[in-house]
Amino acid sequence: MDRVTLGIVGCGTISDVYFEAANEFDVLETAACADLETDRAEAKADEYGVPTVATTEELLADPAIDVAVILTPPSTHGDLLVRALESDTHAYTEKPLATSMAEGREILRTANENDLLVGSAPDTVLGTGLQTCRDVLEAGQIGEPVGAVASWANHGHEHWHPNPDLYYQEGGGPLFDMGPYYLTALVGLLGPVSAVAGATHAAFTERTITSDPRQGETIDVDVPTHETGTLTFENGTTGTLLMSFDVWESTVTGFEIYGTEGTLELTNPNRFDGAPRVHVNGQAHEVSVTRDQPGQQRGLGLLDLAYALETDWEHWTSAELGLHVLEIMAGIRDSGDANEYVELSTAPKRPPSVPDGFPNEL
Ligand SMILES: NC(=O)c1ccc[n+]([C@@H]2O[C@H](COP(=O)([O-])OP(=O)(O)OC[C@H]3O[C@@H](n4cnc5c(N)ncnc54)[C@H](O)[C@@H]3O)[C@@H](O)[C@H]2O)c1
Repeated sequence: MDRVTLGIVGCGTISDVYFEAANEFDVLETAACADLETDRAEAKADEYGVPTVATTEELLADPAIDVAVILTPPSTHGDLLVRALESDTHAYTEKPLATSMAEGREILRTANENDLLVGSAPDTVLGTGLQTCRDVLEAGQIGEPVGAVASWANHGHEHWHPNPDLYYQEGGGPLFDMGPYYLTALVGLLGPVSAVAGATHAAFTERTITSDPRQGETIDVDVPTHETGTLTFENGTTGTLLMSFDVWESTVTGFEIYGTEGTLELTNPNRFDGAPRVHVNGQAHEVSVTRDQPGQQRGLGLLDLAYALETDWEHWTSAELGLHVLEIMAGIRDSGDANEYVELSTAPKRPPSVPDGFPNEL
């Protein structure tokens, strides 16, 4: 069987799910890993049986690696992706694709010039939950879409993450952290967004870490931490968004699409599984999941990229989609700063429905 060889850059908190996915899916194989903190890369190599611990430089230049998997803080994604592509290596990155549209466009330009593919998290849209939501919409169960609401609010990540700095630095904030899950799902379900408006705020200029091992240290807040936006989709649907690290308790968090005939309660876009609920004529029912896919976990995006590289599979979690989601998020912040609507310039094709039985061979 053919295999796609991975090199994992960044061996921090999220890396375990990628090492596990690469070991679970037969078509993937991790050949090397790297981290600025070499002991972290060595520990993951030991734990998951990765043959080589390399420097980032060595890993990106290694011709035996097909895909560089970038799992570092958001502010480093753009530079590392461009360096991988310039070394003739395909790439996949954790979200967000980059921290600015200039960086995002540079990634796509470099990929296209070198005839390489870039994949971008989140890949939860490939899961059975959100694909079942898509089937509900396409079957017209709630009529024609009218509006959508995405609301996620809590008090940030400094109470659990060992190094929560990334959430409060460039590329962080609740919109860039959680927005990609909700926005990628909405674009997959409703198509591209043509214009956005937003208003943002930060309640605190610094945050105190309450998790180990840095309990008591403070972090400067460089990004907005309470972010609201409205979205105008090309198909005329409107969306309302709240993403916040400044909220202690909320009773209005949720993810829904309203239609001319009823309401679709979507599955959690930070998960692969779950069953949507449909409310029609005053009755609510849970929808039976319409898909049967292996691997209900982060890492399906790597399979998506592997099939796109090796077969005629249409790439779902593409950099084009990641760039559109980045433009929506950057547009909401720019709109708040300028106090005006922002028209978007990117409009990726709506990705196809994911086939039932996501394959595990090339
Ligand atoms: N932690 C989560 O639950 C989670 C969930 C989903 C997505 N993500 C995303 O995953 C990415 C990483 O998050 P994390 O929580 O694992 O962060 P982390 O801080 O725990 O780990 C990041 C690792 O990257 C290393 N690193 C930084 N720059 C590097 C470079 N140039 N070369 C090699 N290594 C480098 C750091 O030393 C660190 O070990 C972020 O984009 C984040 O948005 C995290």
